Amino acid sequence: MLLIKLDATDSTNAYLKDLLVSQNPPDGTVVQTNWQKKGRGQHGRQWLSEPGKNLTISVLKRFEQLKVADQFVLSIITSLAVADVLIKHGVPNVQVKWPNDILSGKQKLCGILVENIVKGTSLKAAVLGIGLNVNQDQFPYGLNATSIKLMTGKELPLDTVLNDLIGAMELRFDQYLFKPVESAIQAYEELLFGRHQKVELTTPEGTSLFATIQGIDARGRLRVKRMDGKVAVYGFNEIRIAI
Ligand code: BTN
Repeated sequence: MLLIKLDATDSTNAYLKDLLVSQNPPDGTVVQTNWQKKGRGQHGRQWLSEPGKNLTISVLKRFEQLKVADQFVLSIITSLAVADVLIKHGVPNVQVKWPNDILSGKQKLCGILVENIVKGTSLKAAVLGIGLNVNQDQFPYGLNATSIKLMTGKELPLDTVLNDLIGAMELRFDQYLFKPVESAIQAYEELLFGRHQKVELTTPEGTSLFATIQGIDARGRLRVKRMDGKVAVYGFNEIRIAI
């Protein structure tokens, strides 16, 4: 496994994607930085992380035969691996907020940004970007964020968490990639925030509705029961869960 450690970079996802074009990094390459200056989040948002306090990493996965339609399994696997590490270190009430925010209770302590390299209907590679709050103990007001340290009272060496995460990802990839997707979905749904509960969902246009979360379907879309009793599924860009 190739581990590239950088003092600073704009974004580990961007760095790894550039590397993929200019060189030929092997499957499993990990890029880590102490200071991510222009961290990228989902939906074009920023990812802010205090230098030297947290894990900001990107992991490269290459595929021979993964269909674009099955790409959600990467989010599931990455989310479960992060959850494994958090549970191991004693973080309470670890949950996954669909599609791939990792929470302790209702507070977010990890965000995941999956960027895919697609050819036709196949996924050639994916850059799995993980921002995991480890030792940061203050967050901007209103962010609803937390860290391992805040939730457990323990400060952890970043290398320990990095090694744990790489190990957990290898195990979860072996367990679920190219296997029937049902078992991965079941493990994911067991951690799913708001499952069997009524939550507020918001659309990108700003409208909101209430529905009961049931789970996810085989493509990773959120399955909910609406107030009129009808079951609906929503894709990643169609809906967000409000907390
Ligand atoms: C989100 O919740 O919005 C996703 C955040 C993903 C942040 C990580 S930090 C490492 C990697 N590099 C980036 O620029 N983003 C991801």
